[in-house]
Amino acid sequence: MDSVRTVDIIDKKRQGHELSFDELSHMLNGFTKGDIPDYQMSAFMMAICLKGMSLCETIWLTKLMIDTGKTLDLSQIPGIKVDKHSTGGVGDTTTLITVPIVAACGGKVAKMSGRGLSHTGGTIDKLESIPGVCTKRSETELMDIVNRIGCCVIGQSKELVPADKLMYALRDVTATVASIPLIASSIMSKKIAAGSNAILLDVKVGKGAFMETLDDARCLAQVMTMIGEELGVRTIAIITDMNQPLGLSIGNRLEVSEALLLLSGKMTKGNPLYDISTLLAAYMLYLSQVVDTPKDAYPLIEEAIRSGLAKEKFLSLIEELGGDTSMLDINKLENASIKLDIPSDKTGYINAVDAHKIGIAAAMLGAGREKMYDVIDPAVGIILKKRVGDAVMQGESIATLYANDTKRLNDVISLTKSAFSFSDIPVTPSPIVHDIITAAPSLAQDVLK
Ligand code: URA
Ligand code: CA
Repeated sequence: MDSVRTVDIIDKKRQGHELSFDELSHMLNGFTKGDIPDYQMSAFMMAICLKGMSLCETIWLTKLMIDTGKTLDLSQIPGIKVDKHSTGGVGDTTTLITVPIVAACGGKVAKMSGRGLSHTGGTIDKLESIPGVCTKRSETELMDIVNRIGCCVIGQSKELVPADKLMYALRDVTATVASIPLIASSIMSKKIAAGSNAILLDVKVGKGAFMETLDDARCLAQVMTMIGEELGVRTIAIITDMNQPLGLSIGNRLEVSEALLLLSGKMTKGNPLYDISTLLAAYMLYLSQVVDTPKDAYPLIEEAIRSGLAKEKFLSLIEELGGDTSMLDINKLENASIKLDIPSDKTGYINAVDAHKIGIAAAMLGAGREKMYDVIDPAVGIILKKRVGDAVMQGESIATLYANDTKRLNDVISLTKSAFSFSDIPVTPSPIVHDIITAAPSLAQDVLK
């Protein structure tokens, strides 16, 4: 292989040809070791963006990425370990909800999560908004906690998939993020390296998501499930709507508060956060082989919430991570210094609530980061008072801003207002679940461009 010139491999991809395993290996390992410079890797990834990759190339790429780092060995936790990944949403606190529910129903979850970036939130930021919580834990601590309480969520280990960190940093600044094979291999390499036996993917589609169309979301879901299955991990993807935020709360402590509300049994069927969380939990329990069909999981899930066991698991998780559980009280979680209601300018029906704009508005209040090392304010954010389809009177509150700083509040007020659009006639909200994808070879073959 050493006679191979990097430039020839880049050119071969530029012409749209399929690369061999050895050619992909040359690129990946050369780049990770520092032998291939950033400019060649950037050109290579741009060629992938423009010409695509076959399913075979995408699976090889994922495998090669995994092999640049360490793979967690979770074998000290008996039984099937199930993981969950969301491609990034706004007001999406489903990890905080599903993980304790699955543990309460007898599943095992040993999970690594990320921080929020841009307009989307991250589970680690939400957990760390509770004083005392420390998610920087070793592999041994992760396994010990799962063996005690059935679940644990910690921060991403730096030792997993170093190639992805290097590649993502370049993609971010070379306009090469938006590529299905690159996104699929980036996500699946990290998930597979994290060592679970099964993965449930929540692929978001809509204005607040990476994938804006259902066709793209389906394609990404098909590719990711194929990669998982091919590399020995049971994988199912659920395509869910992100045209409006999933829950009503956006912002770290506000989202913890909403998750607790659900786990305390104060949310019911018909609420989108409840419906998606229970669907995801049902599929996680199905993948864990706790139940024979996802439908069979519903009575278990409902009982785990009704009995208080799911909430207890959440409290145990916070305690295990060093958190102060006396903070888990609505009055302490929802207590930013400024609370400002945004009145509706119109009477009518809510036609849309732009998840991207709401995510940006919350981040501007301090709930998220613009740059990797920005410090976030755990208390701030937005609670929506209206969702798509709701009737609204002029002057009625459509959202409440939670802030600690008046400086950027004005910009956020107008941005929040602009996220809402109105209709004079009643509006039917679009479905929140679009599709459920299990690996289907014939479907994913030709769609990777
Ligand atoms: N999330 C990831 O981890 N990688 C991508 O490429 C896109 C989203
Ligand atoms: Ca370099």
